[in-house]
Parts: sequence; structure tokens; C-alpha cells
Amino acid sequence: MRTQVGIVGAGPAGLMLSHLLYLDGIKSVIVENRSREYVEARIRAGVLEHWAADLLVHTGVGERMQREGLVHGGIHFSFNDELRHIDFKALVGKGILVYGQHEVVKDVITRRLADGGQILFEVNNVCVEGLTGAPKIRFQHAGRAQELDCDFIGGCDGFHGVCRPSVPNGVLTGYEREYPFGWLGILAQARPVSEELIYCLHPRGFALFSMRSPELVRLYIQCAPDEDIAQWPDQKIWRELHARLAAGKSRELAEGPLIERGVTAMRSFVVEPMQYGRLFLAGDSAHIVPPTGAKGMNLALADVLMLSRGFADYYRTGRSDRLDAYSATCLRRVWKAQRFSWWMTQMLHIGPRHNAFDRKRQLAELDYVTSSEAAARSLAENYVGLPLDI
Ligand code: FAD
Ligand code: DHB
Repeated sequence: MRTQVGIVGAGPAGLMLSHLLYLDGIKSVIVENRSREYVEARIRAGVLEHWAADLLVHTGVGERMQREGLVHGGIHFSFNDELRHIDFKALVGKGILVYGQHEVVKDVITRRLADGGQILFEVNNVCVEGLTGAPKIRFQHAGRAQELDCDFIGGCDGFHGVCRPSVPNGVLTGYEREYPFGWLGILAQARPVSEELIYCLHPRGFALFSMRSPELVRLYIQCAPDEDIAQWPDQKIWRELHARLAAGKSRELAEGPLIERGVTAMRSFVVEPMQYGRLFLAGDSAHIVPPTGAKGMNLALADVLMLSRGFADYYRTGRSDRLDAYSATCLRRVWKAQRFSWWMTQMLHIGPRHNAFDRKRQLAELDYVTSSEAAARSLAENYVGLPLDI
């Protein structure tokens, strides 16, 4: 087999890269080791930055999102028995869109297949080679060994993928921080407690009240990174959520049947550069953020938008300036998102070594960002998404 850009991974990064390339007349093939059903049901992020929602609309994959997504003009912080609002619309003139990552994945898969795109699901033993010369992706599909020759490879295979580890030792530098806590997340059939998200700092730990629709809530509580989900019967989860909602309690948290539950450890990670020869890393294969800033899916989309512009220039004019600048351009945005995600995380979680001083400092920080217009605007600017360097 032969294509122009071989893509490993059918998450938001790989799918959107393939879609954007198609719109520029560039051929691609995606290889994905999971089934279509699996990737379409994988519950993950839920917040689209303003520009990212626009991108989906402008490229023709935002129709269902416009119908079913929830436009939010701000967020709440609950701390010290108070509920305070940050009004993004008033501060920066933009909002965000709450729409599940797996819905984005479904929409782009549907569109790619309708456009004749090739996505090979359930492939095995993927390996990438010839990265500085003639790139090739080898894999097994439907019981047969296959080879895909390509001009370039898009490494969109997430944090545990094969692309990043295929770069020779010593080429890439990793920057990493692990956090001493994780999130226990649930999806439940219940009415949202608030029209907009509530981020809570509580002495028992962080909690987040989000949603997917007027009948479906997505809720998170801080837990240990290796928390055993079996130790969390439904009643215990709801009890913790009620306790941590504290200041928002007057709003009465509705309970409902759980549809999904899981624990995610939290980590910050960046690899530099995001390119080796003809392999370009995008999304979680190059960087991970703790979810508190709601940046993971957005960074993946920003990377592949940059990358698609680079490939478009290359195939249209033969110039590689944009491709050469891909890593440096993305990393500027990535590091700002890392800073914001780390900052939100440290402000809202109780660390195992926190003392009374840390508690007071966190409360002062929340008081400051929710009362100083300058600080609130900075938070709003980052949350709705920094401008794209394009
Ligand atoms: P992925 O979505 O990970 O896609 C990579 C794809 O590559 C997958 O489909 C995978 O199956 C495939 N793949 C992997 N290895 C191979 C291989 N060897 N061969 C072929 N295919 C392969 N972000 C938030 O902002 N908020 C959240 O609440 C949140 N929750 C999350 C919960 C979990 C459990 C995880 C893991 C992430 C979460 N994130 C969250 C982060 C966000 O979902 C990611 O940033 C986003 O998925 C990145 O998209 P991606 O396409 O780069 O990677
Ligand atoms: C959601 C996830 C996040 O990580 C976040 O910061 C806000 C909302 C969500 O899944 O809805």
C-alpha cells in the first residue's frame, strides 16, 4: 500500500489530521489498533475551546455538535463555602463548548468514511520505520501482514503508542511531572446541578461538576492515582460528591444511575522536539496535561491543524518551512497549556504533603482570581483558548 501521509491512531488527533488533509487534497491512511466501536465509546474529555469548536464547524464536521453541544459562557469555583462565577463572555468575549470527545470522534469517523477515507481498525503489531528516509508503517490487518509506504508519518497514537518510542535514544528530551493524586470520573443519568461547570476546592479534595446534556452529568472527584474503583460503590461516590460540592449545595445535587466510571492518574509530560525526520508527533503522543485545565483534546486539535498547514504548503509549493517550524510552533502553545493546566491543578487539589499554609494560599489564590478582573481575564483567556500561531 502507498499513501502520502500514514497516520497511526484514530483518536481526535489522527482523525482530524486525516480530515484536514483530505480537504487539502492530500491522501492519508489511518491505522488504529482498537475497533471502531471501542474508540467511539471511549469516554474522555468534554470541553472544546472556542476556536476548536469553530474549526469543527468550518471544516464540515460540526453540525451535530452545533445541535447537541452546550455553549457555556463561564465557569464557577466553589471554595470556602462560597460559589463564585467567572464570566468568560464578559471578560474575553468568548465561551467554550461542552461536547464529549467520543462524539467528536464519531462525527469525524462518519465524515471520513463518507468521503472515502481509509481507516483500518483492529490492526496489530504496528511498527514505524525509515523515519529519516523512506517511511513505512508495518502492521497486521485481518490476519495479513501489510506495509504502508508513505512520504510522512503522523504519530497520533497517544501516550502509550509506538511512534515516540521508535525515535532513537538520545534524540528526544522528555519533561515530566507526576501528581500524587488522580480523578475518579463518572457519567450518570441525572440533571446537572448547575448550567455551567463547578470546580470545587474542598478540605476532602477536589471535585468537578460537568455535564454532557441536560440529562447526563460528568462528575469527577480527586482520589489516589492508583485508587481501586472496586472500593467505590455508587453510594460512596455520591456521598463524596455531595460533601465536596459544599458551597453549591444549596443547588441540590440530583443523583442517577451510573453509566460509566473510571480512574485516571495525572501527569504533565512534554517531549521535545515533536519531530524526527519524517515522523511528526501530535497530541498525547507528544504531550500530556493534567485534565484540570480541559486542554488535552484541544492541544491535539491545535497540533494537527498546524501539521496539516505544513503538509499543505509542502504538497502545494514544495516548501518545507512550515513543516520545519512545526515542533517549535506547537511547543510554544503546548508549554502555555502545560503552565495553565499545572496552575489550575495546584490551585484546586489537596496534596498529601499540604499543610495549613498551603490551604490558606490556595484559598487566597481562588479569592484573587475570582475578585480581580485582571486575574479573572487571564484565566478566561487561557480557558477559552489562546490564539493560534497560524
Ligand atoms: P488518543 O485519544 O489517545 O488517541 C490515540 C489513538 O491511537 C487511540 O485510538 C489508540 O487506540 C491508538 N493507538 C495507540 N497505540 C497504537 C498503536 N500501537 N497502533 C495503532 N493505534 C494505536 N482531557 C481532558 O481535557 N479532560 C478529561 O477529562 C480527560 N480525561 C481523560 C481520561 C483518560 C482515561 C485519558 C487517557 C485521557 C483523558 N483526557 C482528558 C485527555 C484527552 O482525552 C486526550 O488529550 C486526547 O484523547 C488526545 O487525543 P489523541 O488523539 O492525541 O490521543
Ligand atoms: C471535563 C473534563 C475536564 O478535564 C475539565 O477540566 C472540564 C470538563 C468534562 O469531561 O466535561
